[in-house]
Amino acid sequence: MLVGIDGSDDAGVFYLDSERALVQTVDFITPILDNPYYYGAVASANSLSDIYAMGGTPLTALNLVCFPTGVLPLEILSEILRGAIDKINEAGAVLAGGHSINDKEPKFGLCVTGLIHPDRIIRNRGAQAGDRLILTKPLGSGVITTAARNDQCELPVLETAINTMMKLNRDASLLMIEYGAHAATDITGFGLLGHGLEMAQGSQVTLVIEAEKVPLIAGVIELAQRDIFSGGSRRNWKHVEKSVKLEKPFPQYLTGLLADAQTSGGLLISMAADKAGPFVNALKTKGVPEAVEIGEVLAFEETPIILR
Ligand code: CO
Ligand code: CO
Repeated sequence: MLVGIDGSDDAGVFYLDSERALVQTVDFITPILDNPYYYGAVASANSLSDIYAMGGTPLTALNLVCFPTGVLPLEILSEILRGAIDKINEAGAVLAGGHSINDKEPKFGLCVTGLIHPDRIIRNRGAQAGDRLILTKPLGSGVITTAARNDQCELPVLETAINTMMKLNRDASLLMIEYGAHAATDITGFGLLGHGLEMAQGSQVTLVIEAEKVPLIAGVIELAQRDIFSGGSRRNWKHVEKSVKLEKPFPQYLTGLLADAQTSGGLLISMAADKAGPFVNALKTKGVPEAVEIGEVLAFEETPIILR
């Protein structure tokens, strides 16, 4: 194993020969959306994301299905699979099979195998003092899907969040390889601060995040101000709180959003300062318009994360 289970990397990497290694990951989620097609697509984009976070290319996918057969109509399952296949095709991968079991609550996701060059693996450790941090998707999907489940979210806000979650991290991944990223991870269940903490600890550095620069999904601030956070997002903040130094007081809704559990979030990328500007410009012109530089990396000082 080139990357195994000792760290908190997004996927395992298995050496084949000097040119090739396999990247493998598995991920499945409960329905975060009412619409089965979007649920299948988002769950798949999320599963594929761990391959992209390592800098790999997805090859094959196996689906994992838990479904209440006889309770929900089978058309719902076909729609979930249709959403999945669309994303697998978009990723240039193929569906190789899968397995389904009967279960009261639906669950869906993919086991994905990809290819990577053994010398070009981008881990979540590797961030260096002097690097800049780039985030490729806005935050807030956890708040929005929580609000939508309680009928507290307006449709346009939910639609924006769905589009964000469905977006593959492929273009961001290809560009980060081209520009020589030092470290990367995708922002999912632990939120920006949780996954940022893993990157900081793995790299033994301090990440400085400029809270006001962090991109947020349009319409999410109002929901966050009404304190519509999932239990998981609240736990995220509790988990990271001691590792985060606040340079000034921040409103609770903002620290909450920085810890908000994302389904299928963007990539957090650490890159040399002289390449970060051109990299963000390339992202913006090549399909990742929401990418933003959100902070920098310092040699470790006091806490793994500083909010500025
Ligand atoms: Co991941
Ligand atoms: Co994952």
